Amino acid sequence: MNKKALLAQVEKNVLTCRKCRLCEHAKNAVPGEGNIDSEIVFIGEAPGRTEDETGRPFVGRAGKLLENLLAEIGYKREDVWIGNIIKHRPPENRDPLPDEIAACQPYLKVQLEAIAPKLIITLGRFAMNYFYTDGKITRDHGTLRKSSDGKYLIFPVYHPAAALRNPDFGAVLKNDFLKIPEMLQFISKGEGDKMAEGDGKADEGQLGLF
Ligand code: URA
Repeated sequence: MNKKALLAQVEKNVLTCRKCRLCEHAKNAVPGEGNIDSEIVFIGEAPGRTEDETGRPFVGRAGKLLENLLAEIGYKREDVWIGNIIKHRPPENRDPLPDEIAACQPYLKVQLEAIAPKLIITLGRFAMNYFYTDGKITRDHGTLRKSSDGKYLIFPVYHPAAALRNPDFGAVLKNDFLKIPEMLQFISKGEGDKMAEGDGKADEGQLGLF
């Protein structure tokens, strides 16, 4: 099956999913959307109210901030692919439970295998911990690491909703976003794995390479 057909099949399955309790309260499933040929994908936690109403990821206030941050680095939202680890809104936006994350996991797994991004930017700690369980967002944001399964390069940043609540997080989030183009340059030069195995940061010496 080609990439487009495979992703359309996943979307169809997500839209009719009844694998966990979340579908009982949600209005719409939110499979994810965007450029399936993008080098970078953005993965959030779970749909909120506006996403639940529209069936689209990051279209509320956090989504607006995400779009502004994307513009800072020269992207429009339709240039990239945006999804979530959980496809139905948890009631009252509560944290997703481990069994809900596990039930939803096969969808994102196939989506990412099909898109095969060079870099996954995780938004918030739940999305980061989906890819490596020992992550701490206050420590690891803005650094490059490999996912536990060794398949992907992960660049965790704070969740835009956290930045809306606290301007200090907003400044850190923007600073981390501004590093994304240089991360991509490293990855394109085959330097991503080395950086992820070190401290995950581009130091000044490395930056001088460009
Ligand atoms: N927060 C998320 O984590 N995902 C969305 O799609 C919207 C808000």
